[in-house]
Amino acid sequence: MHIPVFKNRIAELLNLSKDAVVVDATLGAGGHSFEIWEQMISGKLVSFDVDKHAIERLVALDSGWQEFTAGVWALHEGTKTWYLANANFKNIATILRSLAIHKVDVVLADLGWSTDQLGAIAGLSYSKDLDAQLDMRFSPELQVTAADLLNNLSRDQLKTLFEGNADIYGKQCFWLIEKIVQGRPLSKVSDLLKILEDADKSGIENLVPRVFQALRIAVNSELSTLQSFLSEIPRYLGRGGRLMVITFHSGEEKVVERLAAEWQKQGVIAKNQQASYLRPTVDELKENISARSAKLYIYEFLR
Ligand SMILES: C[S@@+](CC[C@H](N)C(=O)[O-])C[C@H]1O[C@@H](n2cnc3c(N)ncnc32)[C@H](O)[C@@H]1O
Repeated sequence: MHIPVFKNRIAELLNLSKDAVVVDATLGAGGHSFEIWEQMISGKLVSFDVDKHAIERLVALDSGWQEFTAGVWALHEGTKTWYLANANFKNIATILRSLAIHKVDVVLADLGWSTDQLGAIAGLSYSKDLDAQLDMRFSPELQVTAADLLNNLSRDQLKTLFEGNADIYGKQCFWLIEKIVQGRPLSKVSDLLKILEDADKSGIENLVPRVFQALRIAVNSELSTLQSFLSEIPRYLGRGGRLMVITFHSGEEKVVERLAAEWQKQGVIAKNQQASYLRPTVDELKENISARSAKLYIYEFLR
């Protein structure tokens, strides 16, 4: 079962006004969206998920869901409406335009993928399925697999990938790149694990999860998608609007903090907000250890 990170804190921070418009960019199992929906007296909630199973699971729970347009579902209850959009959050502008929504009060994004999703994609699990191809694509429309990157990128390109997506620098990065280049061609999970097998002996700890994460982020263009999505937000959040982003690794943190620094310069958010975030409490971590690297960034918009 997916336990939403920062559920109670987000519930306290929502503070929804009458007729609030809220975007949950990452529906997942719906933990945060249900909380928002329950708190909402009137208004609109728009929940996105690129994974159609997340949308289908929720639609199956209530016979009131109706298909609104292709890939978008609607549920009406009194004076509030909940829309579900099977769409990438980078397409927020297209979806909101189709719903005639021009202003939003709260935007929430709980980034990443659930454990179930990670287990369902070929090449993402380094503990199971060693025979799987190094694919890592969340969407079949994507052309480039992790094996393509490992086998074709130059040393410099691999350096950029591992530095930018997993903070692997210096000697460790050099060691890794040489192993990849000498181990080519790599096609299966077991091929990649084999070349990383003496990383511990070389004094590099915890390398395997970081390498797999870096490749997954690159294959699915996760950071440029996040950048596109966040760049759209100021046009929807006016004075008093709030953006809450839950990140899980330094690549996401850098994208969020870089954009927030620009907003700060432009006077869109208050000073000293850029890099301030909350961490899960000890009690939250007891319940959900996978939240140990989570950070909750909250930005209140001034205009
Ligand atoms: C960590 S889960 C969210 C969990 C959710 N907050 C809950 O309470 O259950 C992240 C979800 O975001 C979705 N997702 C990831 N990247 C996305 C993107 N670019 N656009 C839309 N959804 C995305 C994933 O499919 C996944 O279901």
